[in-house]
Amino acid sequence: MDSRKVVCFIIFFFFPQFLITVSSSTEFCFTSACSRGEAIVQFPFRLENCHPKRCGYPGFDLFCNSQNQTIVELPNSGKFTIQAIEYETQNLWINDPEYCLPKRLLKLNLSGSPFTGVFYQDFTLFNCTFDYRGLDPIACLSGENYTVFATSHKRAISFLASECNLIATIGVPVQWTFLEPVLSSDLSGDLRLQWAAPLCRRCESRGRRCGFKSNSSTEIECSNVNRHGLPRRVRYALIVGAGVPAILCIVGLLCYIRGRVKRFGRERHTTVEFTSVAMPHSTITSGLDSTIIESYPKTVLGESRRLAKLDDSICSICLSGYMPKETLRSIPECQHCFHAECIDEWLRIKDSCPICRNSPNSS
Ligand SMILES: *[C@@H]1O[C@H](CO)[C@@H](O)[C@H](O)[C@H]1NC(C)=O
Ligand SMILES: *[C@@H]1O[C@H](CO)[C@@H](O)[C@H](O)[C@H]1NC(C)=O
Ligand SMILES: *[C@@H]1O[C@H](CO)[C@@H](O)[C@H](O)[C@H]1NC(C)=O
Ligand SMILES: *[C@@H]1O[C@H](CO)[C@@H](O)[C@H](O)[C@H]1NC(C)=O
Ligand SMILES: *[C@@H]1O[C@H](CO)[C@@H](O)[C@H](O)[C@H]1NC(C)=O
Repeated sequence: MDSRKVVCFIIFFFFPQFLITVSSSTEFCFTSACSRGEAIVQFPFRLENCHPKRCGYPGFDLFCNSQNQTIVELPNSGKFTIQAIEYETQNLWINDPEYCLPKRLLKLNLSGSPFTGVFYQDFTLFNCTFDYRGLDPIACLSGENYTVFATSHKRAISFLASECNLIATIGVPVQWTFLEPVLSSDLSGDLRLQWAAPLCRRCESRGRRCGFKSNSSTEIECSNVNRHGLPRRVRYALIVGAGVPAILCIVGLLCYIRGRVKRFGRERHTTVEFTSVAMPHSTITSGLDSTIIESYPKTVLGESRRLAKLDDSICSICLSGYMPKETLRSIPECQHCFHAECIDEWLRIKDSCPICRNSPNSS
């Protein structure tokens, strides 16, 4: 599939009104993603096929592959999938698109990229002709007659050194510092990296948006954006481009209905039927009772969004990314998560999950 279509579909799907503005102000750097649940892409990152060049900092170009994964190409190490980006801490988590991270770690060289590890831990890899119980083998490097292990444990290293072939000792940019040496690991967990420049941490944590000061300068500025990440100019464009025609349409429709109703009333002379036309059955609501809504589980997000086991990094109702300390609520029947304030509002009006349309009420 053409990757350009993949990327831009999201924007138009989420923001149909963008069709009006994007064509008229292409210099606008909007927030994007390869698909739902993928990392949100914004400055200093940019999606190659969707954002103009000046929307991203040099070395921060990303693209979407045919499986809608977000990909970064590191200068000396090749392509990695981006699992998550945390703009407030300037951290990102990467993995191997071919699902054999240890193989990539043997050749990982971050020099030449803007990224470095946050925590490093040394692991020694051994190629053994025996399968040792109690040690986690690296399946994707092992063969029929040999097994590969990685360990950071001193005694395991000295034991395996006498029994097996040493492959290498590598510094792995792990997610957490381990307090004790790791006896064995299949090294498949995401790698945690950070970037030092451009420094947008403070800007992001204040809910503002970092970007280049102007078209030609490489200076960074921190500007105000609203909750949905739209700059003021675009918001005005939206109001003028979509709001005014919408109001005109509604006024026109009201005039038309009024005309019809009047004519109808004159023809029939019955007030009973007049009210039934003027008030169609739109007052029927199918929302849930607030006691039912309140009974759904709520969680407060920790400092690291990753602890919450979210399969989506944005709320599908308001389309904003989840921030630490925000309260989320999930629908027990389908486990879909949203901002509590968004889903409460939704469920008061409709009794179905906004994502899967399953009705929690049906059981
Ligand atoms: C990628 O995303 C598009 C649009 O969101 C979707 O139609 C397509 O099925 C996705 N492809 C894969 C492989 O998930
Ligand atoms: C990483 O790549 C740089 C540039 O190609 C090279 O100078 C450096 O020696 C490499 N480091 C390792 C550990 O291979
Ligand atoms: C491990 O050793 C076997 C031979 O015993 C060799 O074929 C294989 O390539 C080695 N694997 C690695 C990852 O070094
Ligand atoms: C593994 O060992 C067995 C028995 O020694 C041998 O028959 C087989 O060909 C070996 N497999 C590989 C892939 O070397
Ligand atoms: C920004 O710069 C590019 C080339 O550097 C130019 O093509 C483009 O017209 C400029 N845009 C604005 C709004 O000045």
